[in-house]
Amino acid sequence: MRWTRLRRLRRVAHEGQREGQKVSLTGIKPTGEPHLGNYIGAIRPALEMASSYESIYFIADYHALTSVRDRASLANWTRSVGATWIALGLDPKQTIFYRQSDVPEIFELTWVLSCMTGKGLMNRAHAYKAARDRNAEAGVTDLDAGINMGLYSYPVLMAVDILIMNTDVVPVGQDQVQHVEYAADIAGSFNHVYGDVFTLKIPEAVTPPGDTGRVLPGLDGRKMSKSYANTIPLFAPEARLRKLVRSIKSDSTPVEAPKDPDSSAAFQLYENFAASEDVADMRRRLEAGGTGWGELKNALYEAINTRLTPMRERYEELMAPGSELDGILADGAAQARERARPVLAGVRRAVGIDPL
Ligand code: ADP
Ligand code: TRP
Repeated sequence: MRWTRLRRLRRVAHEGQREGQKVSLTGIKPTGEPHLGNYIGAIRPALEMASSYESIYFIADYHALTSVRDRASLANWTRSVGATWIALGLDPKQTIFYRQSDVPEIFELTWVLSCMTGKGLMNRAHAYKAARDRNAEAGVTDLDAGINMGLYSYPVLMAVDILIMNTDVVPVGQDQVQHVEYAADIAGSFNHVYGDVFTLKIPEAVTPPGDTGRVLPGLDGRKMSKSYANTIPLFAPEARLRKLVRSIKSDSTPVEAPKDPDSSAAFQLYENFAASEDVADMRRRLEAGGTGWGELKNALYEAINTRLTPMRERYEELMAPGSELDGILADGAAQARERARPVLAGVRRAVGIDPL
């Protein structure tokens, strides 16, 4: 697998890690049903990494609380993100998998590192700046209107997610790279002051090659994203999946005319889900003319459905209350806490908060 190296790794020896293996960690926020874009851009690459790294993946449920205000939705999406990872192939024997909210050490360390993080760093964070820009565009004079402290200090919590697990690499989309750089900066500041007693490992972000290669378009042709309401949920029932695929935006080129496959969102999706010889064949037929967008969409529906049907069954089992998922997450939380405790203890000792 090709990964872009963004920062040079600084190795620090730490305990509790699998011999010789680097740690890969990533989290997904339960802010909606996981969609095809999350799979191609985040989950599939992270699962590929699980064989060569010690992998630690989690559901960033307290991060979702910066925006989700409906308790049933938060609970349901949390389950859905958990069931999705497992259904897509995460092996809980190989990967530590947990809910962020089950690891209280994370929140204790968040306070400590908040005290070592410049406010200016948060002022410059992309997500916060984008929220202010939206206010400015809407003509709201108080640019901080509607922005909660969770959104503002989000990068500190994310830094702790990473640092508390002695992470080496963080597979994320391009939009999250700044946050990983912040985690490295925060760890660097901590080490500068307290490194004689305890050091935090400096993490680096890894992004999918070229990134755009893996940015999947949504129903309207823009990036597939929960915030644009243009997603195809990974485990939509067949009838809904078929309807969604039919609704993908296409131009009005007549069936008989030659078409440019690369201008089509449906074709880009097809490239990610169909076998390569079928993709090549479809490309030739679209370019030659005589094949309509409708035919492409039928083939796309079949390709997605064939790929996801076995996993959909597993997903549905796991979504049922009291399923195996609960035990998997409970075991994962216990393992995650075990890894987090020595880091928190080291930090407490370093700052002068000794055990009584
Ligand atoms: P959303 O934009 O739907 O809110 P998230 O921000 O929760 O998605 O993203 C979770 C992960 O999925 C991130 O690592 C992100 O880079 C990846 N991802 C989201 N949408 C896409 C997409 N359309 N194509 C590729 N990767 C995506
Ligand atoms: N901020 C990430 C996102 O919006 C989710 C996340 C939270 C995360 N903590 C993390 C990703 C730690 C990687 C590592 O997609």
